[in-house]
Amino acid sequence: MNFKIGLIHGDGIGPEIVNEAKKVLEAVSSKYSHSFTYENLLLGGASIDATGEPLTDETIESAKDCDAVLMGSIGGDAKTSPWYQLEPSKRPEAGLLGIRKALNLFANLRPAYLYDELRDACPLKKEIIGDGFDMIIIRELTGGLYFGEKKTVVEDGMRKAIDTLTYDENEIRRIAKRGFEIAMKRGKKVTSVDKANVLDSSRLWRAVVEEVAKDYPEVTLEHMLVDNCAMQLVMNPGQFDVILTENMFGDILSDEASMVTGSIGMLSSASLNETKFGLYEPSHGSAPDIAGKNIANPIATVLSAAMMLRYSLDLDREADAVEAAVRKVLKDGYRTGDIMSEGCTQVSTTQLGDLLVERL
Ligand code: IPM
Ligand code: MG
Repeated sequence: MNFKIGLIHGDGIGPEIVNEAKKVLEAVSSKYSHSFTYENLLLGGASIDATGEPLTDETIESAKDCDAVLMGSIGGDAKTSPWYQLEPSKRPEAGLLGIRKALNLFANLRPAYLYDELRDACPLKKEIIGDGFDMIIIRELTGGLYFGEKKTVVEDGMRKAIDTLTYDENEIRRIAKRGFEIAMKRGKKVTSVDKANVLDSSRLWRAVVEEVAKDYPEVTLEHMLVDNCAMQLVMNPGQFDVILTENMFGDILSDEASMVTGSIGMLSSASLNETKFGLYEPSHGSAPDIAGKNIANPIATVLSAAMMLRYSLDLDREADAVEAAVRKVLKDGYRTGDIMSEGCTQVSTTQLGDLLVERL
């Protein structure tokens, strides 16, 4: 089959890891006789350098014309990069938020699981790890504090800044449905995370999630306050299947969950709208400190490409093959520096890409 894939190489290690994922996609297309065409799209710092803006209409229109977009990472070092001398709405991150909104990518899926081969990298004690864990965070991505009214003013000589956390019931309902649908294909448990003891938006969240739950009687629903969830993630991560939460809580909890696995360089993510289209990217950032050294771990991006094959292109068999190749490379003892452990062979970004292609 023919597919058009947008590639956002982005900043920092982005170009290196996207190149390896593309190598893997090329191997998939020749093995399974598909034809992938690629379109390079600018976003973030790379877009600022080329056009002065972190996101242009051209990128949005080109992305809409693709079946899916695979992204590396955007952003630089806030202390040293000139991008951070610009006003906030012109910085790399504004481009990412802009494309999420412009393409209506309201559902952000962030799996976090413990690889058996990488147990030693997990920072938790053995008795807490137990049989391991396998959860997915479903984060609402186009509402809440990120997109509510905001302003900074001076009142009576005093500076004051305002951010607003707004959700309407439709925004909550559509992400809740996504959460329950995904739970049906997994462990049939949803933990909806909010701060209903304090926030109105959370009380509405809870009420709407309960309404949606009625359509999924097989799924067990529990509510958890966000502060408790932060604690439970390091105390008993095995209890979670699907964590469903709003934008800001999801931002924070997904970083925590990925760190708990001990292998943030391994975790993929997908941002989806109501159609098959999605933007796929690793859960980690652009790591400017190691950019250009050919040492970054490309696996999270490769696994994001696998998610893209599965969710946007309906190529399940191909996605399975990519995931199997990743497990095989780990089993065979190959590691990039971030997940290196005794007795393994340390390889570079490009070598790891080649090893994956060999195993496909
Ligand atoms: C993420 C990132 C972004 C976010 C930043 C870069 C704007 O932290 O994707 O989690 O906060 O959503
Ligand atoms: Mg984040």
